[in-house]
Amino acid sequence: MGRIHAGIVGTGHAYPEGILTNADLEKIVETSDDWITARTGIKQRRKAAPGEYTSQFAVRAARQAIARAGIDPLDIDLILCATVTPDQILPSTGCIIQAELGANKAAAMDIVAACSGFLYGLTLADSQIRTGQIRHALVIGAEILTQYVDYTDRGTCVLFGDGAGAAVVGPVDEGKGILASRIRSDGRYLEQLFSPGGGTRRPPSADTLAAGDHFFKMKGNELFKVAVRSMSEISCEVLSEAGLKADDVKIFIPHQANQRITDAVANKLNVEQERVYSNISMHGNTSSASIPIALDECVEAGRIEKDDLVLMASFGGGVTWGGVLVRW
Ligand code: ACO
Repeated sequence: MGRIHAGIVGTGHAYPEGILTNADLEKIVETSDDWITARTGIKQRRKAAPGEYTSQFAVRAARQAIARAGIDPLDIDLILCATVTPDQILPSTGCIIQAELGANKAAAMDIVAACSGFLYGLTLADSQIRTGQIRHALVIGAEILTQYVDYTDRGTCVLFGDGAGAAVVGPVDEGKGILASRIRSDGRYLEQLFSPGGGTRRPPSADTLAAGDHFFKMKGNELFKVAVRSMSEISCEVLSEAGLKADDVKIFIPHQANQRITDAVANKLNVEQERVYSNISMHGNTSSASIPIALDECVEAGRIEKDDLVLMASFGGGVTWGGVLVRW
C-alpha cells in the first residue's frame, strides 16, 4: 500500500450578524478610527449578541465544510475544535459540536492554543490521517472573544472579533495536500497575553469578576516583535522542509492579528502584497478562527485553485506559533 497523504477537502465559515465599527468604539473608549486604522488596519469586527455562543457558529461553519467535502457527518473520525472561548468548561465544545452534527463515530476534543489553534489542529489531523489511524478529521477554529474583552481597555478592546471557520481534512493524492507543517510554543512568554482569573488558580468569584480577571490582558507591543519573528521563521522552516521557496507560494494566509504584523512578515518573506490575504479590516482578530475564515474566503473568491501552493502561519497567546504548507 502506498503512503497516505492528507489535505483540506472542504472549508466553511460563519460569524454573527452584529457589527462593531471603529465609530462605535469611539463612543465606548478614548480612541479614534484614525488610530485603530493606522495601528491595526481594523475597521470593524463581528460581535455576537447576548445569548449567542461559540458552538453555534462552529456548527454552521462545519456544516458548510462537510457539505463541500461531500462526506456524511458519520464519516468523521476526529473533531478538533480550537478555541479559547468554549461554550462552557465541561464538556469540550468539540463534543457539543459533535452532538449537533450527529457525527457520532468521531472522537471530539478542544485545542487551547489561542490564535495558533487551527494550525495545531491541522497538524494533528494530518499526522493521524498519514499514519492510517483515521480517514477524516473536522478541524474548527471558533471564538466569541468579545465576551472576554475589557471594553474599558482601549489597548485590547479594539482588536478582537467573533466568528468560526472549519476544514475537513481527508486523504488526497500524492504530491497534494499538507506538504509540511510545524507547531511550536514557548510558555516563558505566557503573561504577554492571558486571562488571570476563572480557572483553578483564581477560581471565579465576586472578587475576580469585580477585578475583571476573566478578561484578556495583553502586552501588545512586546508580542508584536515575537509574532513577526516567529511567523517568519516557521514559514521559512515549512517551505524549506518541502523543498520550496516563498516565490512558489500562490497565497500567504497569516493569522490576522494586525495589518502591520502581516506586512512585516510578508516583507521578511519577500511575498508581495498581491499574494497576501488580509481580511483584518472586516473581522479584526478572531484568534483561532482567523485562518480558517480567511482560507474559506479565499476559496469562495476563487483565489485558491487546484495545485496552488498555500502558506499559512500563526502566532498567539501561550505563546504558540505554527506554519502549514498546502498544495491545493
Ligand atoms: N486608541 C488610541 N490610543 C491607543 C489605543 C487605542 N485603541 N491603544 C493604545 N493606545 C495608545 C497607548 O496608550 C500608547 O499611548 P502612550 O504612548 O501615551 O503610552 C500608544 O497608543 C502606543 O501604544 P502601543 O501599545 O505601543 O501601540 P502599538 O503600536 O504597539 O499598537 C497593538 C498596539 C495594536 C496592540 C499592537 O501592539 C499589536 O497589534 N500587537 C500584537 C498583538 C498580537 O499579536 N497578539 C497575539 C495574537 S492574539 C491572540 O493570541 C488571541
